Amino acid sequence: MYKFTTINENETQRLAKQIGEKLMPNDVLTLDGDLGAGKTTFTKGLAEGLAVKRTVNSPTYTIVKEYKGRIPLYHMDVYRLEDSEEDIGFDDYFNGEGVTVIEWSQYILEFLPEERLQINIEKIDEERREIKVTPHSDHLNELCKELKL
Ligand SMILES: Nc1ncnc2c1ncn2[C@@H]1O[C@H](COP(=O)(O)OP(=O)(O)O)[C@@H](O)[C@H]1O
Ligand SMILES: [Mg+2]
Repeated sequence: MYKFTTINENETQRLAKQIGEKLMPNDVLTLDGDLGAGKTTFTKGLAEGLAVKRTVNSPTYTIVKEYKGRIPLYHMDVYRLEDSEEDIGFDDYFNGEGVTVIEWSQYILEFLPEERLQINIEKIDEERREIKVTPHSDHLNELCKELKL
């Protein structure tokens, strides 16, 4: 597990961007943390690293939004699936051409692949966040070794 403390949203995005630059098709990232922790902010940085041109926003009304980049980004917010046990075809995304990012992954634990990059964000105060990054594959572990704030 790798631990970072960021002091503002730019720093969170800078960290996420480094990850985005190194992601490969079929990589899955989980983002967990309270409302306002910075999951969507992190995704914006990730998207920048994936060379996504459009602005990334919370997929509030749809569960998944797809963005074009160097490779596609599938951005999910599964908050509304809490307790539903509904499978919206997760495997098609996980095995697709792109990278999947899942906000509130704690609600779909049973559907998550074993190999994934687990990110937990905790609010320390208004501007500081503790970001824990836990890789669950060799490739993701290599990627994490190069991260620095
Ligand atoms: N260090 C930081 N990292 C990320 N976001 C931060 C940080 N400091 C302040 N913020 C603010 O916290 C909020 C995070 O919101 P958001 O990313 O939508 O959270 P979530 O998706 O987890 O609900 C944003 O308004 C952002 O500007
Ligand atoms: Mg969000």
